[in-house]
This record gives sequence, structure tokens and C-alpha cells, in this order.
Amino acid sequence: MSGGPRTRWSDGTLHFAYTRIEELDAIASMLAKARVCEHVYFGPNTRAETRAFFLPLLEPMRASLACGSLPEVHVFTIRHGPGEDFVGECAVVPVAYAPGNFTIGYQLDEPWWRQGIGTRAGEFLVWYGFARLGAYRLNADCLASNLGSARILERCGFRREGLQRRHYRVRGEYRDQLLFGLLREELRPELEDVGARYGDALRVASRETSATG
Ligand SMILES: CC(C)(COP(=O)(O)OP(=O)(O)OC[C@H]1O[C@@H](n2cnc3c(N)ncnc32)[C@H](O)[C@@H]1OP(=O)(O)O)[C@@H](O)C(=O)NCCC(=O)NCCS
Repeated sequence: MSGGPRTRWSDGTLHFAYTRIEELDAIASMLAKARVCEHVYFGPNTRAETRAFFLPLLEPMRASLACGSLPEVHVFTIRHGPGEDFVGECAVVPVAYAPGNFTIGYQLDEPWWRQGIGTRAGEFLVWYGFARLGAYRLNADCLASNLGSARILERCGFRREGLQRRHYRVRGEYRDQLLFGLLREELRPELEDVGARYGDALRVASRETSATG
């Protein structure tokens, strides 16, 4: 087995893997849907807009993984079942000038909503941020109208830290934004070994296992 970072996690049903540039069309189809973008600050996106946003993230990610190092930005495609049907994407992104502080996010395509997958994606990202990236803090935000996203964050142990009034002007309307944070020491014990679901023994509390193994 190569010594590079692990790139894929699966419990046999839900699969997370570092996003490949070839998967951008599936992501673009999802982000072109008005319903998917109803409670986010962007979109619906054209294919060109989605590519312009993701390519500067995915190209360095691919280059790092190709030479066996952990990338700075972590974008994962979520797939489901034996056919590995496209479900969505999720990401852990570093906060500028704050090493060890990261922001998480997720987008699922509409057929997959309300089946607990968003929660599992949130749990995966929380585990990934703390266990594999050694984060001391994770951030997340959502439009105040995004009840599903806010609930996922609560379920993952995030604390609501603020509400920014009229933070965005989205499709002609001002929208408030909720801010969430989760400190490493606040992580619920049951989320420390989420990786075990996906055959990854790394635990958040572990001080012994290599962060890139
Ligand atoms: C928001 C989103 C991630 C939710 O994912 P999901 O897989 O449907 O969420 P889950 O099934 O894990 O549900 C988590 C909780 O949120 C609730 N929920 C989900 N969608 C909801 C909605 N539209 N309105 C109210 N509650 C909702 C669920 O009932 C569940 O509540 P519970 O814990 O009390 O049972 C998904 O709808 C999505 O990707 N939407 C489009 C893009 C987006 O908004 N991304 C997030 C940007 S911040």
C-alpha cells in the first residue's frame, strides 16, 4: 500500500472520496438546480460557474494527493450504494491565517434529502477535521432559512455563535447568516470514532496514530 494519505472512506453503503475533476459535471448538474440553491447564497450556477469555483480547489488537491501529501483543501464526493450513485459533495477548508481552524460545508442533490445523509456527511467532516487534520476548531455557516443545515450542525455538536443580519443579498433579497463553531474539546465522545464506520481506526482522542496514515 502506498504511504500517501487515504483518499476514500466507505461503510459499504455511503462512500466519501476526494473529488476528481471528472466528477465536476455531476456537481454542476446539482448546483444548477434552483431547489438545491434555495437556501444557499449562490446559484443556481451554470456549468462554467461551478467549474470556475471548483477547479482552483481541485487542481492543487489532485497535485498534492498525486505526490502523496495531504492537500490544504479537502473536497469529497459523496456516493451511495453498490452503483456509487452521485449524492453530493462536502468539504473541509482551512481558515486563512489560522492554522488548525477549518470551515466545513456540504451540498446534497435533492433525491437524497431527508434520509440522514447530510447528518452523516457533517459527522464525517467533523471527524475528518479533528482526527485527520488535527483541527482545534471547526466553523460552519448557513442562511438563517436553512433549517436542515442548522439542524445538522446542532446534531454534530456545533454551537450557534451568531447571526449576521443581511449578510448576503441573494437573488435580490437580503438574507441573514447563522454562524456556528465547534471546539475540539467540545466534541461529543460518540463522534470521536466516526472513522470506524468507514474502516478508519483513527480517533479524535488518539495521540498515537499518525495523522496521515
Ligand atoms: C441542507 C441539507 C444538507 C440537509 O441534508 P439532509 O440529508 O436532508 O439532512 P438529514 O436528513 O441528515 O436531516 C437532518 C435534520 O434536519 C432536518 N431537515 C432536513 N431538511 C430540512 C428542511 N428542509 N427543513 C426543516 N428541517 C429539515 C431533518 O428532519 C433532520 O432533523 P432531526 O435531526 O430532528 O431528525 C440538504 O437539504 C442540502 O444539501 N440542501 C441543498 C444545499 C444546502 O442547503 N447545503 C447546505 C448549505 S449551508
